[in-house]
Amino acid sequence: MKQQKLLQSGKVKSVYRTDTPGQLIIEFRDDITAFDGGKKDVLADKGRFNAEVSAFFFEYLEKYGVKTHFVKMLDEKRMVVRDLQMIPLEVIVRNFAAGSLVRNYPFKEGTKLNPPIVVIDYKDDSRHDPMLNDEIIGALGLATPAELKKIKKIALEVNSHLVRFLAELDITLVDFKLEFGRGGKTIYVGDEISMDSMRLWDKTTGESLDKDVYRFDKGDVIATYNRVSRRICT
Ligand code: TYD
Repeated sequence: MKQQKLLQSGKVKSVYRTDTPGQLIIEFRDDITAFDGGKKDVLADKGRFNAEVSAFFFEYLEKYGVKTHFVKMLDEKRMVVRDLQMIPLEVIVRNFAAGSLVRNYPFKEGTKLNPPIVVIDYKDDSRHDPMLNDEIIGALGLATPAELKKIKKIALEVNSHLVRFLAELDITLVDFKLEFGRGGKTIYVGDEISMDSMRLWDKTTGESLDKDVYRFDKGDVIATYNRVSRRICT
């Protein structure tokens, strides 16, 4: 497979056209950003740890019948994916209160949310990803009611699989974000499932095992990403 023209360069990933119809290459770069890009750095190996964990989870989920864009890894940082029509939603599943939920609402950090909560934000950095509701999603024509129902169902299914898998490793899945795309009439999980897009707490020590280490200068981000990816992928 040949990598062709750069189609899109986001904050931490680049997307390339390929010579295979219907397939793209996503490159996981070593950039790391937080606070809407207000904090940014380049950290060697960061891209490959997130690529490895994303590939692992996509393959894991596929085994349970969850449809994802994952095709294969080309090398440590480059993933071949199905070319989807991406839906500009950030679909967040929360098992425990943390992050923006605690900042914006009177939840105490670490409160268990039972059942899990699904929150959907509009993927638009210029508007700081405002929270949506079903009516706004419908009025903006972002997804049909049937698609939205499917997206929420898949997000909760992914949550059950990831919670169970991570619990075996003594890791609490606090929350995570998914993005979805259309391939024909089918809805696929796209983007990434990595330490950048999940909030993970060590069950024993309570320490953060995700991008919060970077957001809040809690320690050596790369050492953390390395340890977590070893724990998850081996
Ligand atoms: P959230 O608490 O809403 O935001 P913040 O990161 O500002 O505390 O995040 C919930 C989860 O979703 C968290 O695991 C990070 C992930 N997420 C992203 O990956 N990208 C995003 O743009 C947002 C808003 C969240």
